[in-house]
Amino acid sequence: MSATLPRILVPGKINERVLQRLPDTFEIVRLERADPDLVTADMIDVKGIAVSGRVPAGLMDALPGLEIIANFGVGYDGVDVKHAASKGIVVTNTPDVLTEEVADTAIGLLINTLRQLPQAEQWLRQGRWARDGAFALSPLSLRGRTVGLYGLGRIGLAIAKRLEAFGVSVAYHTRSPRDGLTYAYYPTLERLAAAVDTLVVIVPGTEATRKTVNAQVLSALGSNGVLINVGRGSTVDEAALVAALQTGVIAGAGLDVFDNEPYVPDALLALPNVSLLPHVASASVVTRNAMADLVVDNLRAWFSAGKALTPVPETPLTRRVG
Ligand code: DGY
Repeated sequence: MSATLPRILVPGKINERVLQRLPDTFEIVRLERADPDLVTADMIDVKGIAVSGRVPAGLMDALPGLEIIANFGVGYDGVDVKHAASKGIVVTNTPDVLTEEVADTAIGLLINTLRQLPQAEQWLRQGRWARDGAFALSPLSLRGRTVGLYGLGRIGLAIAKRLEAFGVSVAYHTRSPRDGLTYAYYPTLERLAAAVDTLVVIVPGTEATRKTVNAQVLSALGSNGVLINVGRGSTVDEAALVAALQTGVIAGAGLDVFDNEPYVPDALLALPNVSLLPHVASASVVTRNAMADLVVDNLRAWFSAGKALTPVPETPLTRRVG
């Protein structure tokens, strides 16, 4: 392996295609997990990290030559980006390439939750259609619903466009209204929840969004209300959600993300009025390949042209020379 290739640390697991493509231009250094205590003296010259998961401040501090962290995913809540910015380390993510896939999944999860299609399929597979008769009518439907989007970035907009085609009303809450849209805007999440019966969460997982979908918001959503979360589990107060689902404060929930993944609370698993997915919104081969390519292309662009392709807004950096 040539000593001149920049060394890229890959802590933990990452999409196979990243590992296949990196060796064309880099030397890969593997680490079992993103733990600074596992860093050894021979990793001192590592210049980049490719990661699907966490990068704590301590790992950055343990790698004095670190210039770039290429995050596999549009959400980069696992990376201590403030610390990276303070050290002049650029962080990149994978926007755009997963937008349509995640929006597709959000609609699928919404319909599964309302129409109980996974349960209906189980009914058929268990032979109950022939034995016991038709599957029960779903109490909920998409017909006549008003959907509120909590977050209207690239993915939120793609979900909104799809919802328009389904003939339902769309409203949204973000920090400030977006120009050029006809969707109703609500300046607070609670007011949005009170105005709609279906809330789709697609905000990033940050301190500002942490547990913002709380008991008050769920109560405002109301007894016909349905919560869909394809953003981050940290945005929802999971205990409040379980209580709201158990007591009929809301009617149902569809969740692709959880607060402590991959662990899903037993109380949620026990509920009949939820549809649960193991964080698969972007998880098709074609989309994950595109995300993998963008991880590698960001690293290549940084070391060859001095500029990453998709740096996150907190680190709009160019490469230091010398
Ligand atoms: C992301 O890109 O942040 C998604 O959650 C990964 O599927």
